Amino acid sequence: MRKKIVAGNWKCNTNLQEGIELAKKVNTLVTSMAATDVVVVLGTPFTHLAKIVESVNTARIGIAAQNCAAEAKGAFTGEISAEMIKSTGADYVILGHSERREYYAETSEVLNRKISLAIENGLTPIYCCGEPLRIRETGTQNAFVKNQLEETICNLSPDDFRKLIIAYEPIWAIGTGKTATSEQAQEIHAFIRSVIAEKFGNEIAEDVSILYGGSCNAKNAKELFANKDVDGGLIGGASLKVEDFIQIINGF
Ligand code: 13P
Repeated sequence: MRKKIVAGNWKCNTNLQEGIELAKKVNTLVTSMAATDVVVVLGTPFTHLAKIVESVNTARIGIAAQNCAAEAKGAFTGEISAEMIKSTGADYVILGHSERREYYAETSEVLNRKISLAIENGLTPIYCCGEPLRIRETGTQNAFVKNQLEETICNLSPDDFRKLIIAYEPIWAIGTGKTATSEQAQEIHAFIRSVIAEKFGNEIAEDVSILYGGSCNAKNAKELFANKDVDGGLIGGASLKVEDFIQIINGF
C-alpha cells in the first residue's frame, strides 16, 4: 500500500555529537505524537548511522544513508557498501540525488548498480529524479524526468520496483527557497505515476510513494502534501531544524 513518508536529508551537515542530539530531539517529539501512519526517516551522514540507530526508536523512525558504493566490496578505498550500511541497522538509502549526479558524476549506469546492490542488501532506495532550471524553462521537464526513470528504475523487475520510493526534486527548487507550486508538484507527480503505470501497470504505480523535495518547509508542506499524488517529502534544510521538521510531519 502507498505510504506517507517524510524523510530528512541532512546532507553533509552535523558532526556526530550534533547529529545524535538532533536525532534524539526528533525521536522525543515523534514518539510522543499519537500513532500516525506517516513514516519518518532521517538521512544522516555515514559516520552517524550506527549511533543514531541506537539513539532512536526504530519502530517509529527509519534511518537512511545518503549514498552507497556501486560495488559490493573490494579494493575501493573510501567507499561504503550497501551491506555495510545495512549492518548499521539503517534500512534506507537515498540514491541519485541531483547533488551526487552533478558533483560526483553519477550516471544512470552507476545508479543502476547502486540500486541493485541496495535492494539485494535489503535497503529501501529513495530514488531521486528531477530537472534543472534550463529544462523547466523550456517546458520539457516531463521528457527529462521520464528519461531518468527509463534509464534506471524502469529496468527493475516488478518485484524489485515495489521495494523503492521515488523522490521528485526539481533542481531549481533545492536549497533555493523557491518551491514548486502545488499545481506544478501534482502535475509532475501524476506524470511520474503514469510513466510507472505504463511500465509496471496500475496496481504497482498506485502503490509507489512519490515524495516531493525542494525547499519544502513548515509553511508549504501541508499544501504540497494535500495533492493526490504527493505522498510526502524529502526535506533538506528544514530537516536540520527540529520544530520545522515536526511541523512538516504534521503537514499530513
Ligand atoms: P532543501 O529542502 O534544502 O531544498 O533540499 C531538498 C533536498 O535536496 C532533499 O534531498
